[in-house]
Amino acid sequence: MGYETSLILARNGFHTYATMRKVDGGGGGSKQIIDIAKNENLPLQVIQLDVNNDKSVTEAINRIANEKGRIDVVINNAGYDLMGALEETSIDEIKAQFETNFFGAVRVMQAVIPMMRKQGEGIIVNITSLGGRISFPLNSPYHATKFALEGLSKSIQYEVEPFGIKIIVIEPGGVGSNFLKNLKMVTKTSDPSNSPYRSIQSSMSEYFKQWAQNLTHPSEVAKVILQAVTSDNPNFRYVVGKDATMALESRRNMSDREFHDLIKKQINL
Ligand SMILES: NC(=O)c1ccc[n+]([C@@H]2O[C@H](COP(=O)([O-])OP(=O)(O)OC[C@H]3O[C@@H](n4cnc5c(N)ncnc54)[C@H](OP(=O)(O)O)[C@@H]3O)[C@@H](O)[C@H]2O)c1
Repeated sequence: MGYETSLILARNGFHTYATMRKVDGGGGGSKQIIDIAKNENLPLQVIQLDVNNDKSVTEAINRIANEKGRIDVVINNAGYDLMGALEETSIDEIKAQFETNFFGAVRVMQAVIPMMRKQGEGIIVNITSLGGRISFPLNSPYHATKFALEGLSKSIQYEVEPFGIKIIVIEPGGVGSNFLKNLKMVTKTSDPSNSPYRSIQSSMSEYFKQWAQNLTHPSEVAKVILQAVTSDNPNFRYVVGKDATMALESRRNMSDREFHDLIKKQINL
């Protein structure tokens, strides 16, 4: 999603800093994006940024501020999924999940808000998820990070609106990115056949196979982000993907119990 979003923004005239943990031969995706930027003569640069690291965030934001004198739009996209039953998840794994998905975004926001406040304008886009509105089993820390980011986004919207700063959340359903490839399994379940959660695991794994058949292309998310950040009066929330739209529609029209039963039926629990 980050890749597609960087390119669509640069192709639409935004001077774009595509950030990643590893640049230049360090195993990241910098070469491909730099080649495209060169070929198409795009206003795009790649810089190193690890959202888990205070120094890295400060250095990246300071560099952009020094080079451009302002930051108009920030997109908090870094995130991964931690999969496993809560009972079998270590506190360290949960903290690491929060470090990237939640505190990473918080770090970046704290670094850019002072500049945006002085500018009297700015847009912060937080990529949350359908999983920040509804929950599935074996993903509890992931959902916790996304629900947390949703709650934080809504709260700070009141705080920063008077300074001209807009907050937007993007809630994709399933997207065909590298998300599944980058998924981390909890480590305590070294022998899945002994887990008390093996039946839910097997249902979820079947459900994931089905889920993976109908994913939205990451470029669709990027288009929605472009539309949101170029709108004079953007919405707070953008839901992306048929699956997410349908799930939230059902959620709106059902009681807690009815929706709980629907999810169980879908997953075959
Ligand atoms: N795919 C979905 O179905 C889906 C649905 C809803 C929401 N989302 C959310 O969308 C966002 C983007 O995910 P994606 O689907 O595009 O997955 P992805 O292809 O795995 O991309 C995630 C990106 O996050 C980066 N990242 C991870 N930890 C980082 C850190 N500490 N500092 C900086 N960057 C870091 C990764 O960079 P590296 O290249 O360095 O690993 C990777 O490029 C995530 O927040 C995810 O939770 C995804």
